[in-house]
Amino acid sequence: MKLRLTLVMGACILSGSAAWAQNEPPVAQLVINADQPQAVIDRNIYGHFSEHLGHCIYGGVWVGEDSPIPNTRGIRNDVVAALKQIKIPVLRWPGGCFADEYHWRDGIGPRQNRPSMINTHWGGVVENNHFGTHEFLDFCAQLGCQPYICGNLGSGEVKEMSEWVEYVNFDGLSPMSGLRKANGREQPWGVKYFGVGNENWGCGGNMTPEFYADQYKRYATYVRSYGTNRIFKIACGPNSGDFNWTEVMMKEAGKRMDGLALHYYCGSGRTRKPAREFEEEDWFVLLRSALRMEELVTRNCEIMDKYDPQKRVALVVDEWGTWHAVEPGTNPGFLYQQNTLRDALVAGVTLNIFNNHSDRVRMANIAQTINVLQAMILTDKEKMTVTPTYHVYEMYTVHHDARRLPCELEAPNYTSGTNAIPGVSVSASRAKDGKLHVTLCNLNPRTSVSVNGAIRGVKPGAISGRVLTAEDMHAHNTFENPQAVQPGAFLNCRVNEGGFTAKLPAKSVVSLELE
Ligand code: AHR
Repeated sequence: MKLRLTLVMGACILSGSAAWAQNEPPVAQLVINADQPQAVIDRNIYGHFSEHLGHCIYGGVWVGEDSPIPNTRGIRNDVVAALKQIKIPVLRWPGGCFADEYHWRDGIGPRQNRPSMINTHWGGVVENNHFGTHEFLDFCAQLGCQPYICGNLGSGEVKEMSEWVEYVNFDGLSPMSGLRKANGREQPWGVKYFGVGNENWGCGGNMTPEFYADQYKRYATYVRSYGTNRIFKIACGPNSGDFNWTEVMMKEAGKRMDGLALHYYCGSGRTRKPAREFEEEDWFVLLRSALRMEELVTRNCEIMDKYDPQKRVALVVDEWGTWHAVEPGTNPGFLYQQNTLRDALVAGVTLNIFNNHSDRVRMANIAQTINVLQAMILTDKEKMTVTPTYHVYEMYTVHHDARRLPCELEAPNYTSGTNAIPGVSVSASRAKDGKLHVTLCNLNPRTSVSVNGAIRGVKPGAISGRVLTAEDMHAHNTFENPQAVQPGAFLNCRVNEGGFTAKLPAKSVVSLELE
């Protein structure tokens, strides 16, 4: 007996009951409708978020020009090289909660003259403002990614936000472009993505949606497009399942925004355990809460469709990821956590969800790039390692700007006690060169799954694959053992007349390429 899971237009529908019988090899049936290509998967779905929090910026990105750690204009070379491998498309900065207390003018000009402030949200540490607008935009240039600046609506003035945009984007003669030039930057940067506040239902001012909608309209009016650079304005969206926020924002301000930002974190929940301390039950609970993203995206899309049937406004999931208790002995305000194979599975299933909603989800930014929450990279002074989540991002680069192919999946459930979740997650796309890519996650940490894949409209001639898995579900990378979890060749796949077969190992993320 099998539980049936069908992916219809990106939504998972369960039917049937009971898990597969013991010893019977579980089989999943997959149909990839390659003859019905859908919306392009915007590469910005693979975006990132870096806040002035703990050692994300200071120590993680910025070490300063005089550091013995190899750097280019103060920015770590090892970190830039690693992030370039995952083709990071867009980077959100400076917060987070920090954004609504940040005054950008404190972070420009000669560094020795920049005032210090207290980072009240994150550990009460002194922020010396050495990493400011110029440094962030240099970091983006070194990465070859788009900057996404989040402005201060909570405690900043309209004029202040407006002038920041003028400073970075105006090409003519003006007070702000003059100031920029005096600070050594002749040409405007042409910043496209601009957030008008962050979490204004919480740390960004504790506003009601009605009050924020009015504030948004006021501030956004003065976030100008200059020259040919059309600025893309992103409004603060709902906290997890606060659908009323989405409703009010779309009704009151939908016509004046380009994106609406949803925030959703899944974590160790009630147990508040660090990332490496978990039993299989915790594994199940975390993946179940990660899969809640499907419902959040679907329901937000339904509301947005009501007010914006043309899907002009993007759903921007600009904060998401796992949030565990901090690593023992570290500053609780720094949100430093390790990252195991379990976090990699969360990344894999969530990115599949975003891919499957590529018509509306056109940007997402995992929190946070380095040393904070579900990071790509961990550093300790000169040491650096990449995490299992990083490898998922690297494996999924094949989906960047590829055309989504709708999938139908019937797969055994993964059960824990009386609870059940879909045991397999999938998304598929066709790249510009015609190759098909399928990313599959087997959520079950105990059992492999055989996938029978039928492809409609394409007869594949060759298949190759990569897999991310480990013996131990707690496996993670450390400075001493940085390759404990890394992708390897996946040989358990074959093409056949109508498609392919693949045997997914337990607790794995698999990426297949079909030609
Ligand atoms: O990413 C950490 C924090 O989580 C951000 O600062 C805030 O926006 C969210 O609550």
